[in-house]
Amino acid sequence: MTTDFSTSTLLCRQLFDRDSFTYTYLLVDTATHEGALIDPVLEQFERDLQYVEELGIELLYVCETHAHADHVTSAGLLRQKTGAKIVFSKDAGIEAIDLALTDGDELKLGNYTIKALATPGHTSGCMSYHVDDKVFTGDTLLIRGCGRTDFQQGDSQQLYDNVIHKLFSLPDNTIVYPAHDYKGRTSSSIGEEKRWNPRLGGGRSASDFIGIMDNLNLDMPKKINEAVPANVAVGVDYNPRRYVHDDFSMTDLHKAWQQLGKNEIIVDNRRVEEFAEGHVPGSRNIPLGTESNHAEELKAYSKVYMYCRSGRRAQTALTNLSLIGLNNLICVSHTGMPNWIAAGYPVER
Ligand SMILES: [Fe+2]
Repeated sequence: MTTDFSTSTLLCRQLFDRDSFTYTYLLVDTATHEGALIDPVLEQFERDLQYVEELGIELLYVCETHAHADHVTSAGLLRQKTGAKIVFSKDAGIEAIDLALTDGDELKLGNYTIKALATPGHTSGCMSYHVDDKVFTGDTLLIRGCGRTDFQQGDSQQLYDNVIHKLFSLPDNTIVYPAHDYKGRTSSSIGEEKRWNPRLGGGRSASDFIGIMDNLNLDMPKKINEAVPANVAVGVDYNPRRYVHDDFSMTDLHKAWQQLGKNEIIVDNRRVEEFAEGHVPGSRNIPLGTESNHAEELKAYSKVYMYCRSGRRAQTALTNLSLIGLNNLICVSHTGMPNWIAAGYPVER
């Protein structure tokens, strides 16, 4: 992607996992390169990460539409690798996440806003995400179908109400992107589903719908006993917030910089291009994702100070290094280089 700050479009890549028939969506604001992944699959982790790296995406969010029963998420691994925040409905009751959303909450993605629409019914913690002219409906609304409601606190009446009153109130030309399709279809629209969805469209009543759902007699998903517990742990036994102790600011970093000991180092975890545009004088550029290659060398310092732009990448790099045994790390966890510049501290280019 070329860095073009004059035009902002929302790139949407639809990716597919053959084994579970799951769609993963990559959203990127082409002007800011900020991105989000919706419903990534563990087995496709390398594929998705390659996109993030090749397109120079700063992955802000991994959004889950619900705790899936048919595949394990790569959310935890993606967080570990990129510093993305894991986003879930609050009602999913999952602890190891970063942002718990309720109905109507909004996430900023560059010049776009992702709006959370709580749509429980398939599970009690289902969330749809509405951005631009697209809605990512998870298993709540599928193309000419809907998710089952017979496990994970499913509730047919609730699913019906949320589709009819919430999703079907979006503009008719809103593109519907589901979490799955088993017949090769890739997208639909709200207007189409309102008219043609055999379970929920054409003015079907709630009691009709409940009758249909009660008589589906489906087998349990193959992976349910493995996938649901794994997804509750976001795919890995790993919670980065555990390792970040300090609330260390750029002002504190400035003090440390002024009296930096021989055996201390300041590390900038941003991308090479960002580093080139201006950094803390004397700091060393170790972009997030490459920090483990430098573990041995960083171990030798008595203190390693880390920063980035917002604190997100420095926190993640700190966590990754902590996990492999480093305990000499301090990171600026909630601010970064723009604050350093705003404070009028010296900048090296
Ligand atoms: Fe599901």
